[in-house]
Amino acid sequence: MQFQLTEEQVMIQKAARDFAQNACLPGVIERDEHQQFPREQVIQLGELGFLGMMTSPVYGGAGMDTISYILAMEEISKVDASTSVCMSVNNSLVCWGLEKYGTEEQKQNYLVPLARGRKDGALYIGAFLLSEPEAGSDATSQHTMAEDKGDHYIINGTKNWITNGANASVYLVMAQTDPAKGSKGIDVFIVERKTKGITVGPKENKLGIRGSDTHSILFEDVKVPKENRIGPHGFGFKFAMQTLEGGRIGIAAQALGIAAGAYERALAYAKQRKAFGKEIAQHQAIQFKLADMATRIEAARLLCMRAAWEKDHGRDYAVSSSMAKVFASETAMWVTTEAVQIHGGYGYVKEFHVERLMRDAKITQIYEGTSEVQRIVIGRGILR
Ligand code: CAA
Repeated sequence: MQFQLTEEQVMIQKAARDFAQNACLPGVIERDEHQQFPREQVIQLGELGFLGMMTSPVYGGAGMDTISYILAMEEISKVDASTSVCMSVNNSLVCWGLEKYGTEEQKQNYLVPLARGRKDGALYIGAFLLSEPEAGSDATSQHTMAEDKGDHYIINGTKNWITNGANASVYLVMAQTDPAKGSKGIDVFIVERKTKGITVGPKENKLGIRGSDTHSILFEDVKVPKENRIGPHGFGFKFAMQTLEGGRIGIAAQALGIAAGAYERALAYAKQRKAFGKEIAQHQAIQFKLADMATRIEAARLLCMRAAWEKDHGRDYAVSSSMAKVFASETAMWVTTEAVQIHGGYGYVKEFHVERLMRDAKITQIYEGTSEVQRIVIGRGILR
């Protein structure tokens, strides 16, 4: 068993840490308060090769492994989870599926600019449109319809909670093509946001990750050429599930980063804040909290590494990615709450960052499959 990172992985970790400190930290509180999309930061992610980290260089990506990806996700999420979710969605939910299942033409047209994060000098990212007003955890219950018209499809329906909703140039849209076939009657399409009939709803006013742009997307008689369907007819649900297996590793790493960021701040604060004549870190009540925080974070990190390693080695990673996500996200919620507690009154105000990290942590227990959905996946996996 090897616990040491390679030289390249250490380099990527450092690059991500520098990016987080230099590009994300300035203004992160204001972007959160004003719900401002981190556009400049996302452009820089593209320049660093972080928008298509695992995509082959043949298709504009950086060709790195999943371990490198989670190292970068952790470092960026320590500081700015609104930026890291954008990165995670583009890498795992958009580029990965296009590279694995797209045609050569689809890859040349869409994957290359998505992995670079740029086309014709402008930002170019993607979004993953599975959730609907009445299809969240129950993802097979798709009401968005795609009607086969011969050489094209016509899509009608509404998608909800779409990360990158207003800034994405490309949507991967899951839609029902044959309701009688249930999950086997779902297809997945590449749809350009500028296509006639698409309306982007207002930005959701969220508890956390307030900078990320989350929107409903409405489809009204949207015409999509047949060559934009990914995979064979009826492949859409399996495509979504397989894509989410990798996505969940990215969100687990995001949760890990949020937890680690809050812990680092709590540790530093505990070493300088004095009460009852000594630094609060010298009080056992605080020491025990810090010890538990450090231990749970390390366990979450090992689960993330394990899932990433399995993915990189071509093993089945459905269970390990769900284990990493459920454990890391619950760790993030617990650690950030304790970090606020260690800060006392200061933890409750924005300047000290930990209240934002606590708000950001909550979404990691919800998106890309709630903690309950992860337990379904784990339960089915271990009982198989
Ligand atoms: N790989 C391949 N096939 C899979 C699969 C996988 N991981 N998981 C399921 N399938 C297949 C099943 O084998 C089954 O096919 P067969 O009938 O041929 O056996 C078919 O898909 C239907 O599967 P289930 O019967 O297991 O479906 P279910 O209704 O019981 O649902 C579920 C299972 C795990 C709860 C699933 O619906 C699920 O994961 N829900 C959560 C969805 C989710 O994560 N949404 C996140 C939205 S995206 C987001 O948040 C992005 C963002 O913006 C940040």
